[in-house]
Amino acid sequence: MINIAKPLIDDEEKQAVLEVLDSGILAQGPRVKAFEEAFAEMCGVNHAIATTSGTTALHTALLANEIGAGDEVITSPFTFIASANSILYVGARPVFVDIDPITFNINPQLIEEAITPRTKAIMPVHLFGLSCDMDPIMDIASRHGLKVIEDACQSHGASYHGNKVGSFGTGTFSLYPTKNITSAEGGMITTNDDALAESCRVIRQHGMRRRYYHDELGFNFRMTDIHAAIGLAQLTKLDKFNKSRIDNARYLSANLKNVQVPQIPDGYSHVFHQYTIRVQDGRRDSLIDHLSHNGIGCGVYYPVPIHKQTYYINELGYNQSLPVSEQAAEEVLSLPVHPGLSQGDLDAIVAAVNSFTA
Ligand SMILES: Cc1ncc(COP(=O)(O)O)c(C=O)c1O
Repeated sequence: MINIAKPLIDDEEKQAVLEVLDSGILAQGPRVKAFEEAFAEMCGVNHAIATTSGTTALHTALLANEIGAGDEVITSPFTFIASANSILYVGARPVFVDIDPITFNINPQLIEEAITPRTKAIMPVHLFGLSCDMDPIMDIASRHGLKVIEDACQSHGASYHGNKVGSFGTGTFSLYPTKNITSAEGGMITTNDDALAESCRVIRQHGMRRRYYHDELGFNFRMTDIHAAIGLAQLTKLDKFNKSRIDNARYLSANLKNVQVPQIPDGYSHVFHQYTIRVQDGRRDSLIDHLSHNGIGCGVYYPVPIHKQTYYINELGYNQSLPVSEQAAEEVLSLPVHPGLSQGDLDAIVAAVNSFTA
């Protein structure tokens, strides 16, 4: 079976974990600090703040941007549930704007009409390893005085006109095992804003600036040094991993037939967290059966857009039609593209997709 995702952990990560265990400092310590510094450098920003997950990075970033009860945050419905749920955690309401059919990312042309007096922020989600169209998004945000919280959980190292994702507004990343790099579980917040970085650190540590003095409500969102040691070792390989993903994607796009392959707009570097094709005319689910029959793992990210999730409809009253997202949910299929694939694996994927006749 060729898996859709595979974390690549070798002796470096194992050794780094053993060193932490021997050091006696297991919780947040020097490895977390080193990981934060290296991550900030990778993104080209002044600060990175490590957390326990991408979800807690989003939660913390929203709180630090003072998003709260009664506020609205504009985001994409075509993403993992954590993007929108993090907005709910702070008491705000996600306002969903439809996506671009080619990039699967929020369509900037539809953002302005969704702005109301309650809108406080835009959360662009850089899905599948491809940046959102950030120039118009940053322009809208600055004209309307809105914060920008980037969900870059799937896009470590991706860039837009030479700037890394996570460097436009407040960036958030996931380090879950299927991501382009992992720390097992973990998250990272990136920013150039000194005060915002400080606020994130305080929220992460129970609202504590001075030991055992708590001026505000915070959480325990601290990363451990064990996780940071894995993340640091992985970060040194990010460029290599991303190059391998890009090469694999290029090979697939050059050889796959009868499916719509991913497009990369000019000026973007796509880091292919997912290699997502479109399978039209209701044939997607039979292609999934055909691929499983041929030993090829694949995934549907995402089968239900967030505004159509039961909780959002029944409990939160969402009742909206966003046709581009809904069609994408019916047609997308992600194929393996990870750096663990051999040439034989790639050829097997191509052969399986091209032999599909339904
Ligand atoms: C787009 C997106 N946002 C947020 C998250 C949440 O990250 P985590 O699973 O690390 O909490 C993920 C990860 O799965 C994601 O893909």
